[in-house]
Amino acid sequence: MTLRDLIERKRDGGRITADEWRDFTRDLAAGTLADYQVSALLMAIFFRGMDDDETVALMDGMLHSGRSLDLRHLVVGRVDKHSTGGVGDKISLILAPLVAACGVAVPMMSGRGLGHTGGTLDKLESIPGFDTRLSLEVASAQVERLGCALIGQTGEIAPADKRLYAMRDATGTVEAIPLIAASIMSKKLAESLTGLVLDVKTGAGAFLPKLDDSLRLAQTMIALGARYQCPVVALLTDMESPLGEACGNANEVEESIATLKNGGPSDVRELTLRLGAEMLVLGGAAATLGEARGRLETALGNGAALEKFRDIVTAQGGDPRVCDDPVAVLRQPAIRESYRAARDGVVQRVEPRAVGRGITAMGGGRSTMDDVVDPSVGFRIFARPGRAVRVGDELAVIEARDADCAARGRAALDAAFTVGDVAPPVRAMISHRVSSAGVETGH
Ligand code: URA
Repeated sequence: MTLRDLIERKRDGGRITADEWRDFTRDLAAGTLADYQVSALLMAIFFRGMDDDETVALMDGMLHSGRSLDLRHLVVGRVDKHSTGGVGDKISLILAPLVAACGVAVPMMSGRGLGHTGGTLDKLESIPGFDTRLSLEVASAQVERLGCALIGQTGEIAPADKRLYAMRDATGTVEAIPLIAASIMSKKLAESLTGLVLDVKTGAGAFLPKLDDSLRLAQTMIALGARYQCPVVALLTDMESPLGEACGNANEVEESIATLKNGGPSDVRELTLRLGAEMLVLGGAAATLGEARGRLETALGNGAALEKFRDIVTAQGGDPRVCDDPVAVLRQPAIRESYRAARDGVVQRVEPRAVGRGITAMGGGRSTMDDVVDPSVGFRIFARPGRAVRVGDELAVIEARDADCAARGRAALDAAFTVGDVAPPVRAMISHRVSSAGVETGH
């Protein structure tokens, strides 16, 4: 069977067998397939979809195209959290040390920012010296010693996914539910987890803005986890506006440290606690979500979470003084400019894609994987949807490296902010909780 046969079959609405997916991922990892044929297959999948068995087979092939972070010898639960990506989403930086401080191992493998979304690795690398490129052996030893490592996808983990993702990015085929689900789960299942919590974003700033699509993505990933005895819980969370105040890289680290010190914006704290409670229950460190929340609040209040973060930063070569004085350690913007309301009214919208694209335009994000990120630029957005404002009130601060950069930031905020007469409807931060038991609403 040639790749051309598979393309034609998928184009015509047929299915690809498990053996064919296995051969495809093997050849993909080996680099022996022509990019133009893989691209054509991706476009056929984008329009024709994949059934459940095909999705499992693709994921399995990508998972087994590389090595695993083998942590099965640990006696504690091993739980990771994955976010499908958003703007201002710094939750991983807070959640990983917090949950590890509560006794669950967190082998957290994160990604880089791409498109309008930010990436945990870029944020962490704004801490001078912080190394996210640990080998699997070093990461495994660190999880054993500290309960947590914050790493990127090395070339060893799911290399077939790495190639396929790059091609999807170049061919406009990222936003296909089975491809996203197989891609994410091939990496997560390589961490030998006993549980996984998904933060599936929904709304304008999400890769899949529609609620139905987010729900389907969550259910697909839960079904994939179930096939590998990895229980998965997904929270569908709002990405109709940026999360927290800081949007960028260094400023998000600063906000994360404030949250680890028991402060931070209320939405960042609340989402961290909700996701963390699910992780503690899945990891066997708490019997109920209520008990788990209490333990997490204690670890934020007594400094244990911050100390865990300090230990991780130190172990990964970063400057631990960032925990005491982030402003002194993190690169600061050359310019800070206020962005003010042009009229009286109420903030109706802070459109997250415009904010995310603005960060990229200022040099703080990536258009291609080779772009270099300036950690110092971004926004602090103080005025959230629903806030009443008077003309001249400060809505946000633009953090820029020069006047031209600040002008690009201002243009982005002009596109992002809508101030009008009528308050927008209040949106729930978490709309659904999804697990193998079903879908719950009203959170
Ligand atoms: N993140 C991934 O790892 N893969 C996708 O396909 C989308 C987001």
